[in-house]
Amino acid sequence: MKAVRFTRYGGPEVLELVDIDTPHAGPGQIRIAVRAAGVNGLEWKVRQGLLREVRPLRLPAGVGGDAAGIVDEVGDGVTDVRAGDAVFGSGAETYAEHAVLTSWAPKPDRVSFEEAAGFATPLETALRVLDEAGVRSGHTVLVNGASGGVGSAAVQFAVDRGAIVIGVAGPSNQDYLASLGAAPTTYGPGLVARIRALAPAGVDAAVDIAGSGIIPELIELTGDPDRVVSISDFSAPEHGARVSTGFGRDKTRALREGARLATAGRFTLPVARTFPLAQAGAAQAANATGHVRGRVIVTVP
Ligand SMILES: NC(=O)c1ccc[n+]([C@@H]2O[C@H](COP(=O)([O-])OP(=O)(O)OC[C@H]3O[C@@H](n4cnc5c(N)ncnc54)[C@H](OP(=O)(O)O)[C@@H]3O)[C@@H](O)[C@H]2O)c1
Repeated sequence: MKAVRFTRYGGPEVLELVDIDTPHAGPGQIRIAVRAAGVNGLEWKVRQGLLREVRPLRLPAGVGGDAAGIVDEVGDGVTDVRAGDAVFGSGAETYAEHAVLTSWAPKPDRVSFEEAAGFATPLETALRVLDEAGVRSGHTVLVNGASGGVGSAAVQFAVDRGAIVIGVAGPSNQDYLASLGAAPTTYGPGLVARIRALAPAGVDAAVDIAGSGIIPELIELTGDPDRVVSISDFSAPEHGARVSTGFGRDKTRALREGARLATAGRFTLPVARTFPLAQAGAAQAANATGHVRGRVIVTVP
């Protein structure tokens, strides 16, 4: 089968489309014929070698974690899906014609393979960070970096919980945030005053998705570092706030929650751009701009 791999760390140009053996589903796993794969920031950081100390790779290595497609092999002990089912989920080396998934959910009929391919990491991350920040019904929650993959999911999960959501993104994403159910505002000078105007009674929790260096401001707004959780600003602990990481976590609960909301028409993750497998490097470069609405997706013919 065709798969995207790299044999050395480096820029987008190190990604190659090569022929490799098709993988098989182990116990508790499924294999899919991939229709599309979601692009996450972690993937270009790993490719670049930025995480080689914490997540050393054996090269050559495959790329990707999120995908949607058709089940074509079911491992021992798996009883909830059969060959031929359409699913989305999370696994390994998903920029390929076939990939093994370790967590999955049925793809809602109303959601395209391209859109569902981007769901897994945003859903798991968003649900985790809202749980860690203690967000519940009636809370006012601030989402910094609300229009990307994780931020869009965090806004929609928080709205589903009955929270009042303030979303921070650039000027071109203000209407988009409002369409998700958030009160939108822009980042940049005056942010604290703009948020105070939107939430005169105060902010109960803040989740930092963008990692834009505003942990002190988020603590000022919530009045308590315990109510601030970041997924991408590793200076947060210096201020008493937390960083949430998801390595090795099972995504099944989040995937099912997302599928439930998407089936009801209450969860969407726009496909910002699609790239064919052969242009996986360009897809990662598009993600790395940090200004993508929803998700960049790699499609498999
Ligand atoms: N720790 C974890 O478990 C975990 C899991 C997943 C992802 N991550 C990391 O979390 C980060 C976000 O992931 P993502 O996939 O959601 O990213 P993304 O899709 O690239 O979204 C980035 C978002 O940040 C906004 N943004 C850009 N500059 C900003 C600024 N100065 N202030 C506030 N918002 C700003 C963008 O809005 P505009 O386009 O309007 O500027 C966009 O909404 C990445 O670094 C990723 O690697 C961590």
